[in-house]
Amino acid sequence: PEIGCLSIIVLGASGDLAKKKTFPALFHLYCQGFLPPNEVHIFGYARTKISDDELRNRIRGYLVSDRSASPSKDVSKFLQLIKYVSGSYDAAEGFQMLDKEISKHETSKNSLEGSSRRLFYLALPPSVYPSVCRMIRRYCMNKSNLGGWTRIVVEKPFGRDLGSAEELSSQIGELFDEPQIYRIDHYLGKELVQNLLVLRFANRFFLPLWNRDNIDNVQIVFREDFGTEGRGGYFDEYGIIRDIIQNHLLQVLCLVAMEKPVSLKPERIRDEKVKVLQSVLPIKDEEVVLGQYEGYRDDPTVPDHSNTPTFATVILRIHNERWEGVPFILKAGKALNSRKAEIRVQFKDVPGRNEFVIRLQPSEAMYMKLMVKQPGLEMSTVQSELDLSYRQRYQGVTIPEAYERLILDTIRGDQQHFVRRDELKAAWEIFTPLLHRIDNGEMKPIPYQAGSRGPAEADELLEKAGYIQTHGYIWIPPTL
Ligand code: BG6
Repeated sequence: PEIGCLSIIVLGASGDLAKKKTFPALFHLYCQGFLPPNEVHIFGYARTKISDDELRNRIRGYLVSDRSASPSKDVSKFLQLIKYVSGSYDAAEGFQMLDKEISKHETSKNSLEGSSRRLFYLALPPSVYPSVCRMIRRYCMNKSNLGGWTRIVVEKPFGRDLGSAEELSSQIGELFDEPQIYRIDHYLGKELVQNLLVLRFANRFFLPLWNRDNIDNVQIVFREDFGTEGRGGYFDEYGIIRDIIQNHLLQVLCLVAMEKPVSLKPERIRDEKVKVLQSVLPIKDEEVVLGQYEGYRDDPTVPDHSNTPTFATVILRIHNERWEGVPFILKAGKALNSRKAEIRVQFKDVPGRNEFVIRLQPSEAMYMKLMVKQPGLEMSTVQSELDLSYRQRYQGVTIPEAYERLILDTIRGDQQHFVRRDELKAAWEIFTPLLHRIDNGEMKPIPYQAGSRGPAEADELLEKAGYIQTHGYIWIPPTL
């Protein structure tokens, strides 16, 4: 393991992402000993002129730990690691100051034996990525005489379509090499998403069945039971396809559909994901249903005539030997009747229908719906399940937060769970024609009631694609 100075710089330190996700994730890593106080220094950077203590006070309320023996002591100790530097995102001065602050620690006795490792976390809107990257490149790179590295962490939205995403990629690509760039898709940090490859390739149960001969359809679903309150302005610019489907659900699809990689090296895994994306056929209009919940436009930050979908069901078809003819149904919606994310794999009829469900959240679980004899004297059949519910099976195990895991990967230099540039490009290629048609008003969302299942047309599309909803059956998560 590398020793020496590790500096984590959170740019956009007082923003929402930093407060709600980045700092809490760093705090959890700190509590588990992954950020040793004698090696690690954390810097917040933003435009607002505030003191170290003011920044600490803004973050404090978001730091809660169920994994620490003395949480309040840990919170104070963690906060002491954080320094604040203010400056603009496009001028030399602030970044020169930042470099000075970081360097102070790197030249201390401690780090002479080690290295200069600098992790820049851009908790910022993408419009400033290019200028911030330019400033970092010019003024804040790691000190080469000490070795180490400089890494950049960014998060979606990476552009609005293929053209703008490619432009952003080349702007950043001129300044940093691909191995220095970590594009977060936080769904890749979820426990059950990380489990997918093990599940598929380490079980005889699945290996021979995972193909068009045995699988009828695959559904990847994201539902939220709240609307876009408070972030309507952001959301209206993007819509549900850019916010959830083009990234989170498509990443999950890659892991469900990809071929076995030649090795477990991050690059080999990402090669296979790119191949799946490149095999996706153009989306047909008749395999898309868009929705917008009633009341969405009441938000003062949303234009009165907004055409932005808050719900979408889109069928993707993968043109290869394994998946020819199998619909991959991607469905995402805001303001629906429940909150969950899951993968549903429906097998072909035999004559009963087996369904394998991977519940990503909440109540992480995998269950296999199968037919059994109804227990009792009579001979009748009933649908039941083989159930692996994490809370019950792994009692006392805390499932790490996605961001916590992903930030640890950025420190360790493991890019497996990050989106590579060619992956991003292929993902945009799939959705850009559809998105342009929506942006031009050629396709319109169907209104649906907030708190409902979404437009009825979406269920009809599902049915047409072969999905069979099992009525009267409900899986009950354990109450432990
Ligand atoms: C974000 C989207 O990427 O993911 C949000 O921008 C969405 O709109 C969120 O609410 C969902 O994440 P999770 O981890 O709560 O499923």
